[in-house]
Amino acid sequence: MELKPSESLKIDTFSMRIDSIEGVELDRLHALSLSVGWPHRAEDWQFLRESGQGFVALDEIGRVLGSAMWFAHGADFATVGMVITSPRLQTLGAGQWLMKRVFEKVAGRDLRLNATRAARRLYLSLDFQPEKTVYQCQGIARVQTMGKPANNQGDVRSLDAKDIPAAIALDAAGFGVRRAGLIERLFAHSTGYGLFKGDTLNAFALCRPFGRGHVVGPVVAENDADAVAIVRPHVADHSGSFLRIDTHMDNGEFAAFLSHGGMPVFDTVLTMSMGKRLTDFAVGGAITPMTYALASQTLG
Ligand SMILES: CC(C)(COP(=O)(O)OP(=O)(O)OC[C@H]1O[C@@H](n2cnc3c(N)ncnc32)[C@H](O)[C@@H]1OP(=O)(O)O)[C@@H](O)C(=O)NCCC(=O)NCCS
Repeated sequence: MELKPSESLKIDTFSMRIDSIEGVELDRLHALSLSVGWPHRAEDWQFLRESGQGFVALDEIGRVLGSAMWFAHGADFATVGMVITSPRLQTLGAGQWLMKRVFEKVAGRDLRLNATRAARRLYLSLDFQPEKTVYQCQGIARVQTMGKPANNQGDVRSLDAKDIPAAIALDAAGFGVRRAGLIERLFAHSTGYGLFKGDTLNAFALCRPFGRGHVVGPVVAENDADAVAIVRPHVADHSGSFLRIDTHMDNGEFAAFLSHGGMPVFDTVLTMSMGKRLTDFAVGGAITPMTYALASQTLG
């Protein structure tokens, strides 16, 4: 973090320069993520670009050989994601170089990211601390009957724009940081279900097109039964098609619901932090809303 990284990097026969991700054609970003087997569509890159900032590494003829993004929330916090280097460049220092450029932009902020296995060593060497495993659950969704809502649980209803402030507040309690802009943008791309007790939103789950199908997230609830109650309608809506959900929950009713609903664990990544640890963000109180599913691995 202390060294000022240079504007260009020479690796083997490649000479790279860094540029903002902003003006880059989506097709070229899409080609980069395809080169490492990621499912993002051009539209997913577009959404991320609207939600954050980033760098690309370009070769002499303008090919995109690397990327790194950050998503700032408030003055003190950011998530980092879409850190990719082209396979022919990997292990040669380009990842470090891009991350050091990101560090210049996020100096002073607490950071959180979700590290693939391939990236763990990179982030450990940059002093990120391991926190929790994320279970990437996905598959062909199927409706199932387990975990029917208890009668006293509340009403599950579709969400609309008037529910955004309540969802922002619940998300902030679960995630530990208020991310109003992101939740508003997610609402614009998602369908949502909420669990209401009277007029009060107690839990919610959004679902939007992503990658090979749809992704459910974020999901914020106080307990497994509530989380199941708001995810179930999304599973029903997408029954027979590809659905994904990224969760820290590895056991209990919610995890069982996902695997019975056609979404077993496909892979894992590791949430890592720099600065404040996850527990430092926890809010007190008897009943605390928890993040049952991430918005995505990139966004947290
Ligand atoms: C993860 C990724 C960005 C790393 O980029 P990179 O250009 O290979 O990174 P660097 O060359 O700067 O390597 C950084 C560190 O990781 C080590 N490293 C990188 N790849 C390694 C490998 N396959 N095996 C062992 N060590 C490895 C390097 O030696 C270096 O360690 P050091 O700092 O202790 O010397 C790249 O592998 C990639 O794009 N992977 C696919 C997409 C992905 O998983 N992205 C991460 C999202 S969280």
